[in-house]
Amino acid sequence: MAARYPLLFDPANAGHLWIVERDGQLLSHAGFCLGEADIQGRTVRTACFGAVFTVEAARGQGLAAQALAAAIAAASAAGAEWGIISGSGALYARAGFVRLAALPTYRVPAAAPVVSVEPATLSDVPALAALYDAEPIRFRRSPSEWRQLLAAGILFVGPATVWVVRKNARAFAYLAVNDDALDDPGFVRVFRALEVAGDRQALADAAGGLAHQLGGAALLLVNADVDGALAQLAVQRGWLVDQTRFAFSAARWTPALVGVPVPWYGLNFV
Ligand SMILES: CC(C)(COP(=O)(O)OP(=O)(O)OC[C@H]1O[C@@H](n2cnc3c(N)ncnc32)[C@H](O)[C@@H]1OP(=O)(O)O)[C@@H](O)C(=O)NCCC(=O)NCCS
Repeated sequence: MAARYPLLFDPANAGHLWIVERDGQLLSHAGFCLGEADIQGRTVRTACFGAVFTVEAARGQGLAAQALAAAIAAASAAGAEWGIISGSGALYARAGFVRLAALPTYRVPAAAPVVSVEPATLSDVPALAALYDAEPIRFRRSPSEWRQLLAAGILFVGPATVWVVRKNARAFAYLAVNDDALDDPGFVRVFRALEVAGDRQALADAAGGLAHQLGGAALLLVNADVDGALAQLAVQRGWLVDQTRFAFSAARWTPALVGVPVPWYGLNFV
């Protein structure tokens, strides 16, 4: 668990992990990471919840609800203005989380590579951080968090690789792509990028070549931001557009945040 969710289970975060115990036995858990998100120029104190579980024999007794309620109260007391969770079931709805709307998803067909796309290494962290920090909707990630996330290699819920797009050795963009192909109704291998940052033209140039490199028929680009440039490129290049509704929910605890876009988990899955 700690390898998959390095920020949540970092020893320094132990104070944010809430458990229900009976007779010394751990029965249920809900944890959160407290951080900040930059949303179109405003800073929002954010709690990202994760690893909600109850041992099988003790399910259905309200234990996860108890653990989650304790975690929410602690996050709120620590100043979190909203909470984000990957999931969308009744447990979360009852705790005030609302499932987020579908995200536009572009289908970029595989094509001969036109730019260099390589897996990121730890030496790319400063470049990745700079590209991400220029995005209008993002979490604040410290260099050490970047290193932990890159080493964990988890994107939303599955194993992933961060691919750097370079031109003349300079990083222009990156795409975080799940390593496993999706089940596609057309019985073809299709890969999906759930976090992208950087120059949109470079991303568009890289996506088809990356699909080809991975042996897929297409790369799905999930547009998590209200990104006019990527939407425009989708039209120009004739990419098919679909909508993906993820099991991803948020609770806004401050009225001022109603309507403010929530950052997508991407590599921050906890
Ligand atoms: C989901 C889980 C944590 C619920 O634990 P629990 O202690 O039984 O939960 P509670 O008794 O407090 O609440 C039960 C409610 O959780 C709901 N629930 C079940 N699975 C759920 C899920 N994956 N996401 C959200 N809610 C869920 C049930 O519908 C039930 O609501 P109902 O009474 O209206 O049917 C437990 O089933 C579990 O550990 N599952 C495996 C891990 C997992 O899927 N975690 C969630 C990841 S999103």
